[in-house]
Amino acid sequence: MNFTVQQLQAEKITADAVVVLVPQSEESFWDGSAELKKLAEAAGPLLTSGDFTGARDTSAVAYTSWKKLPRIILVGYGETGQVSLEKLRRAGALAIQRAAGLKCKTLAVVQPTIAGFTPAELAQAISEGLALGVYSYDKHISQKPNGGSPSPDKVTLLGLDADQVKGMKVGVATGKAVSDGVILARDLANAPSNEIDPQTLAARAKELSSVGIKVTVLSKAQIQKLGMGGLLAVSQGGPMPPSFIIMEWHGGARGEQPIVFVGKGVTFDSGGISIKPGAGMADMKLDMGGAAAVIGAIQSIATLKLKRNVIGLVAATENMPSGTAFKPGDVIKHLNGKTSEIDNTDAEGRLILADALTYADRYKPQAVIDLATLTGACLVALGNVASGLMGNNPELNNRIRQAGDRTYDRVVELPLWEEYEELIKSDVADVKNSGGRGAGTITAALFLKTFIGNYPWAHIDIAGTGMTSRPSGYINKGGTGAGVRLLVDLVQNWSNL
Ligand code: BES
Ligand code: MN
Ligand code: ZN
Repeated sequence: MNFTVQQLQAEKITADAVVVLVPQSEESFWDGSAELKKLAEAAGPLLTSGDFTGARDTSAVAYTSWKKLPRIILVGYGETGQVSLEKLRRAGALAIQRAAGLKCKTLAVVQPTIAGFTPAELAQAISEGLALGVYSYDKHISQKPNGGSPSPDKVTLLGLDADQVKGMKVGVATGKAVSDGVILARDLANAPSNEIDPQTLAARAKELSSVGIKVTVLSKAQIQKLGMGGLLAVSQGGPMPPSFIIMEWHGGARGEQPIVFVGKGVTFDSGGISIKPGAGMADMKLDMGGAAAVIGAIQSIATLKLKRNVIGLVAATENMPSGTAFKPGDVIKHLNGKTSEIDNTDAEGRLILADALTYADRYKPQAVIDLATLTGACLVALGNVASGLMGNNPELNNRIRQAGDRTYDRVVELPLWEEYEELIKSDVADVKNSGGRGAGTITAALFLKTFIGNYPWAHIDIAGTGMTSRPSGYINKGGTGAGVRLLVDLVQNWSNL
């Protein structure tokens, strides 16, 4: 989506529709500016009827007699005193959905001034809602939805005065960079496994060199030489070789320790020999949501030229059953020399993350954050609403929680108490890859903890948030890009740990 920002001059708008974001029960709103007043008059009876209240998640359309501007779409964001950036993201999404439904091709959006928020913050939230609100993965559908009418791709945000316009330009640039990262993550996740496999995922990551990211891909031979036993074991059931993707953004001072992101990139998770039931197995093309989030976030971070050093690591593989597949009972040796007993081949994500987390130590990172669609238990506990957060550093966890609250890419912390460690003790190896049904999200994280280096570490389980069957607001069906907005915000607000 392309954005421009201008100052509102009602009679100069040329668009299929103009959206006005309207507060609830605030009659003086339309008197706030002479230009707004003109739009109110053009909207005529819809406004004078009082039927449209400005309640959040509501909208209404008025038809004008103006040639250059046939429609005014009113979108409510609720009581002024209770505004949040999330309500504005949702308002942006509803606006673009209404405009798309009316087959509008060009759109203008009037951004209100709201006490307590800067024009930049508001513009970022609104542009994220606009850009993400009409996402759908339809590249393989010949007869495009919405009668083949593409949603508006060029949007003009209108500010009430010159000062506001100045701030909005900054916010829109951020909102666009962040949304493009989310959309990249959604596209990568939603692509079927016959399109995105460990090699093609690496090829897509390599395209990030266009924004100044250095990308290195380790081949199977290099992975063998290093001794990434977890990644090799998981990949050995299928014909596709694994890949290990390294993305480097050097935006910070030379020598400043990097922040490292690690993503689970299982391009298809059949469960392996511990095979999953058929129903719903297709969703497991989305089991690289962690990898997608890392790739999307690092693209946004580079586009925004954030002044930090950030490394993205992705372990990519399929998990397939076959005569060459790894099996329950196998013992494998990981990159840090520790061994794990395979209790269940469907607990594969932690095996590949183990090697990646050890690899991360090479960078002497100031923090390592891994993202993974790791456990069905996390989906059961938190649904699609929040990701599970676990880690070894309370300050890092706090920052992640705050970034999650700001972006509404939310996380809830679960404890890593030592009592849970009992569940993954093995009789034949250093650790067992499954702890049974109870506390499945926590035991998975404790398994990972066995393989971290000497750094502050956090693990974000996005099994529930990374994919959904129920679209809502700017969150679409399928791969959602969860984690991207959180990671970008975290780096934007970073100060050394
Ligand atoms: N990729 C799955 C977890 C998952 C399930 C993500 C549903 C999203 C939706 C993971 O590899 C897995 O299969 N985990 C097992 C672990 C168990 C065998 C210990 C699980 O959650 O059942
Ligand atoms: Mn699995
Ligand atoms: Zn998996």
